[in-house]
Amino acid sequence: MDKPCINVGILGWGTVGTGVSKILVNQHALIAKNSGTQLCLKKIVKQTLPASRPGVTLPSDCLTTNPAEVVDNPSIDIVVELIGGVSGARALISRALQNGKHVVTANKALLAEHGAELFQLASQHQVSLNFEASTAGGIPIIKTLQESFAGNQIRSLYGIVNGTCNYILSEMHEREVDFADVLKAAQDKGYAEADPTLDVGGIDAAQKLILLIALAYRSNLSLEELYVEGITNITQKEIQYASELGYVIKLIAIAKLTDRNRVEARVHPTLLPERSLLANVGGAFNAVCVIGDAVGPTLFYGQGAGEMPTASAVVADIIDAAKSVQQGVSPPISQAWIADSEAEVSVCPIDEIETRYYLRFVVADRPGVLAKIGTILGNCDISIASVIQKDPHGIDTVSLVMLTHTAREKNMKTALAQIYTLEEVEGNAHLIRIEEEVAF
Ligand code: HSE
Repeated sequence: MDKPCINVGILGWGTVGTGVSKILVNQHALIAKNSGTQLCLKKIVKQTLPASRPGVTLPSDCLTTNPAEVVDNPSIDIVVELIGGVSGARALISRALQNGKHVVTANKALLAEHGAELFQLASQHQVSLNFEASTAGGIPIIKTLQESFAGNQIRSLYGIVNGTCNYILSEMHEREVDFADVLKAAQDKGYAEADPTLDVGGIDAAQKLILLIALAYRSNLSLEELYVEGITNITQKEIQYASELGYVIKLIAIAKLTDRNRVEARVHPTLLPERSLLANVGGAFNAVCVIGDAVGPTLFYGQGAGEMPTASAVVADIIDAAKSVQQGVSPPISQAWIADSEAEVSVCPIDEIETRYYLRFVVADRPGVLAKIGTILGNCDISIASVIQKDPHGIDTVSLVMLTHTAREKNMKTALAQIYTLEEVEGNAHLIRIEEEVAF
């Protein structure tokens, strides 16, 4: 006998909403066979109604402009929020949860800011709030951290979680072009947003890191607590010199347990050894490397954005929620944001991290300059691992490219402040942190 239908309503019929509707309508039988759930797409809310979309034929009366027909509709079991933004989505999700509906969302910005409040609400009303598509699109990293690695203490996590940045850096590496030119080409082709600030500034990756840290360490961080640096200052010279030294530059979201209650939480351009798997994640692809105390190093790779990969993650969440509805049981509530002071970790301030550094100084090509810089670094307990002098910059100036051994960030800041007072040094150094642990 056929199981009763679990009714789904979608808020938003943009790119991802269209992908979700395609899977729900066109793969209805496959989903039933694979998961034992009958999912029926009942309503889609769209501000201005398009007549149709290629690739999917919606049930009659499915489209509406009124969100109440989804969030307040007694016949809808699962609400899927795909409108994005923070305040409108927050209000609609809250209303749906209060009405006892399971909610699926892809909205990382909303959860990074209001996750605690929304998960409390879901817990109160014994419904699920699933968010697989919020981080790394089609890669099932949320479920993996929540379930598959639940028996691990996560030691560290390294993510390429912004496809736009990875695409830009990959193109800069492969085609030897400058940041601004690649960004413009990416925008012309529709790969990058018209306003790419959140992507290239590292904020999108930082929001995703907040969600990963909530799952890995049960710590509810705010954006202000993370160290965030985007890729806008990465020049073709850095790409080339890093490559000559055996490294590739990637924007990496990093979480690292340093001692019992502290976690490093930072997003910045990072030099990775070129032989490492993460360094070879090219184009707009995403990858997340998780190192657990039991499982050891693991790597998850796939498409982090786009219509069908993101829809794949959304549909997986809908199926999970549908199983709870069908079995009449309370869903497992994500413990990630539920306050538990004992389990909380605090953020290790950026000044206290210890890492290796790539440095490039533009200096006057005169005797003794390298010695002066080396002395200042040495006095600040920073040891140089290698140094090369690169081609002239202008009249009598050259680049000094250095790799350091592991040093404390605070010491590096002190040293740089002193180095900048040298009359032979032009402007600020190009500084990029190095991560070696991903070298598998
Ligand atoms: N703008 C994001 C990226 C995709 O470039 O990866 C959505 O999270």
